[in-house]
Amino acid sequence: MVYRYYLDLRFVPPGVPPQSHAYTILHRLNAHETLKIWSPEEPTLLVAQLQHQMRHTLLTSVTRDGDGWAITIRVRGDREPLPLVDTLRRDHDHMDRQFVHAMQLLAGDRPAEGVAAVTQLQSHLRAHIAIENELLAPLGQKGAPEATGLMLREHNDLLDQLALIGELCDTAAEPRDLDTWLGLLAASLNKHESREESLLFPEWARVLARKPDQENLLAEVRSRLGTLSAPESGAA
Ligand SMILES: [Fe+2]
Ligand SMILES: [Fe+2]
Repeated sequence: MVYRYYLDLRFVPPGVPPQSHAYTILHRLNAHETLKIWSPEEPTLLVAQLQHQMRHTLLTSVTRDGDGWAITIRVRGDREPLPLVDTLRRDHDHMDRQFVHAMQLLAGDRPAEGVAAVTQLQSHLRAHIAIENELLAPLGQKGAPEATGLMLREHNDLLDQLALIGELCDTAAEPRDLDTWLGLLAASLNKHESREESLLFPEWARVLARKPDQENLLAEVRSRLGTLSAPESGAA
């Protein structure tokens, strides 16, 4: 039996953020189960936060309902493929965790492991950029040329920063030198990811929905991303 649950955010315990309360229920749900939430506030941010916490495994829909909004959330099954943009968001999250993991190692007493984590992160980010440049940028050239141009320029900037960090990894006698550059790269990447997700992902999803022959492209992106993020590599 597939259960459905209901949560009215007007009755969240005092002092508890609505998003935290919703998450405590949501993360206990099994695949295919549904949570219906009634929110008095516009829920775009809430849904984004829950998707992030649940690693983009949710199917959501939002409709106006009286004075508020009705949000229906279904947990995808393990074998249900994620839409392309959710696969990419998941990969962004994966890289963000790799960053945190590498910086924790560098800040602690495991600098050699920190350098190894940075090296792994570098190759992941390079491959992610290659997928977007080669397979996805063409999807936005027509409908979102400025955002596509911005993405490509930012990729070049990120690759320049990666080259510098790569040199430090190869030559730095004191691996803590990496902290500053890694922090700058993390900030650049963070901004880049959120611009990409807001400016380009909707366009890519729109174009893919119209393309009858999208399966090959989807399969190639998924296969290349899957190879990257299959092992969690101990990232926190
Ligand atoms: Fe990108
Ligand atoms: Fe990306």
